[in-house]
Amino acid sequence: MSRPVNVADYREAARRRLPKILFDYVDGAAYAEQTLAANTADFQALRLRQRILKDVSKISLKTELFGQSLNMPLLLGPIGMAGMYARRGETQAARAAKAAGIPFCLSSLTICDVDEVAKVAPPWFQLYMLKDRGFMVEYLARATAAKCPVLLFTVDLPVPGTRYRDMRSGLSGPPQAFAGLKRVWDGITHPDWLWDVQINGTPHTFGNIAAAVPEAKGLGDFWGWIGRNFDASITWDDIAWVRQHWAGPIVIKGILDPDDAREAVRAGVDGIVVSNHGGRQLDGAPSTISVMPAIKDAVGDDMTLLLDGGVRSGLDVIKALASGADACLIGRAWAWALGARGEAGVSHVISVMRSEMLVALALTGCTDVKAAGRELLAD
Ligand SMILES: Cc1cc2nc3c(=O)[nH]c(=O)nc-3n(C[C@H](O)[C@H](O)[C@H](O)COP(=O)(O)O)c2cc1C
Repeated sequence: MSRPVNVADYREAARRRLPKILFDYVDGAAYAEQTLAANTADFQALRLRQRILKDVSKISLKTELFGQSLNMPLLLGPIGMAGMYARRGETQAARAAKAAGIPFCLSSLTICDVDEVAKVAPPWFQLYMLKDRGFMVEYLARATAAKCPVLLFTVDLPVPGTRYRDMRSGLSGPPQAFAGLKRVWDGITHPDWLWDVQINGTPHTFGNIAAAVPEAKGLGDFWGWIGRNFDASITWDDIAWVRQHWAGPIVIKGILDPDDAREAVRAGVDGIVVSNHGGRQLDGAPSTISVMPAIKDAVGDDMTLLLDGGVRSGLDVIKALASGADACLIGRAWAWALGARGEAGVSHVISVMRSEMLVALALTGCTDVKAAGRELLAD
């Protein structure tokens, strides 16, 4: 295959390089994967308004978020287990983000821990509500000590969504016959990955939670701990509890409904990620881009609005901004690139998306990304 030129190519390159169990984990979503499909289809259905003769010789993508200056309105969103797609994958992605002048957000469920990643640059930090509040307090203190600037508090996972691809592959669900042999075969039939990650990318623990699960022997034990620890009793009152333990900006990730967005304003959070977890939780929920205008109308300019889900190009980013977002997070787009080519792949995807944003702004006659509004969309 020729060198990937866009996100779709990176998906195919990742499919070839990664063991099937990992590719399916990244690529898959909940149940019939309808929300996953809607996330991308609804971006494709939106039309940009072509404009002409507006002097687009200088275009600015500069974006401000929570006192940070970004070179473009794009972030690498939190992705679990990235250190299994490429050797010490979270640090590779963090380096690519740093070089591009955009934030990297570290998931809690990663191979590299926050200190290893902070040596590259302090990441934005993602956390779920866990039953073990003592662990959460320690964990937030660790992120504060590592100088993480922003907390992304993910709230759309009080219970884990069911992903049938993971059940088929044996990543979740009851143990399968010959599971060990199947995994060995999956590994040795992907030798580049085997050498890079399985042999040279150790230790393969969940770095951030390793101390909480000292008896863990493999990734399965960490998943078990996490699965038992998601707190299904979480309510808005818990946001106040998080606030007591985190001094910096708090961004709630997983809002999809205007009523919840209004509630977030009342709760005093600093930002929202409009997200359906990339279609990995409630299948049948609407796409993120389709709910964005109503959420913007609900909160006005009082709230920083980020969006993720189905963003596969710079054109999608501009469509999201035109619909009310201040910036977008990408998930699978960078995970596929990391799985295919490591840091170089992630850097390439970021630069491809940057070029796509510049062209989209030029051809819609907009010279400053901060001014991108609904007038950029065709009826
Ligand atoms: C493989 C994978 C792992 C993920 N892990 C996390 C996670 O640990 N924490 C989190 O808040 N979101 C997680 N997400 C959701 C992403 O942050 C993001 O919401 C989603 O990927 C956006 O959709 P996209 O992949 O279409 O860009 C994960 C998504 C994927 C695909």
